[in-house]
Amino acid sequence: MKITGKTSVYGIFGFPVKHSLSPLMQTAAFQHCGIDAVYVPFEVSPEALKDGIKGIKALNVKGINVTVPHKEKVCELVDYLSEDAEFLGATNTVKNENGVLTGYNTDAEGFLRSLLEEGTNVEGKKVVMFGAGGAARAVGYALLKGGAKVLHLINRNFQRAKEVGELLSKRGNVLVYPLKENTAESLVEDADIVVNTTSVGMKEGDPKLFDYSVIKGETVVVDIIYNPPLTPLLKAAKEKGCKVVNGLGMLVHQGAIAFEIWTGKKAPVDVMRKVLEEALY
Ligand code: ATR
Repeated sequence: MKITGKTSVYGIFGFPVKHSLSPLMQTAAFQHCGIDAVYVPFEVSPEALKDGIKGIKALNVKGINVTVPHKEKVCELVDYLSEDAEFLGATNTVKNENGVLTGYNTDAEGFLRSLLEEGTNVEGKKVVMFGAGGAARAVGYALLKGGAKVLHLINRNFQRAKEVGELLSKRGNVLVYPLKENTAESLVEDADIVVNTTSVGMKEGDPKLFDYSVIKGETVVVDIIYNPPLTPLLKAAKEKGCKVVNGLGMLVHQGAIAFEIWTGKKAPVDVMRKVLEEALY
């Protein structure tokens, strides 16, 4: 591609940002659609975040993604927030329209789309979710927005579970539990959908979240981890005959929705997924 005086600039703010796959994914999408734009990583420290956001306006950067550790703080620095970003207190996408910045959160919708794409509708379903971090907020919110009948939220740190449960219960039926032997197993046995939002399963040697042998074949099992593509949880579920979904779809769709917010065009989801698969696996 040719970079000219007319080329638009997009990017991602993170600290660190080197590991981010968004430049690869968004650049592929722009190129595929023939959009005259570049997408670059910006390593922005927490101390520099305020100036960085001002810089978007100053430099007429058209849009940014926001990743760890800036998602919460950015909410205070933009002019407007979407309903999802406001509810979650987290922004992962900013659009600059003539110097007016709006913060969006595409993680929640991205998660729902990744399930729908696999033929899983959460409406009326009994869901068990592990975790109470930032990812759990977005995923739990998405599940309730999608119409889950009940969300059983399990976390090792019970205080955090209670805090996230309190927030999410504004949107639906949420029950919280500490991560204890037998509690998790009996809830999982009775669930339609099980979702892991914790980091357990990312590294070899990680403990098991619960006794995976209790998973029934009719249960849909979701892990938002995408590397490895099959965590021990998903492996065990697959062996039981379950439908399993990893986190790659969520990564692709949160990016696809950001692309659509910025460009008004339908995102080339398959192209975006392909470059990620090539880079990761
Ligand atoms: P993110 O923003 O990606 O959600 P996070 O806020 O660091 O990341 O949350 C990590 C989640 O993984 C938490 O729910 C954490 O449980 P605690 O709140 O009890 O810390 C969970 N987690 C990490 N390691 C874990 C382990 N070994 N066993 C159980 N849960 C674990």
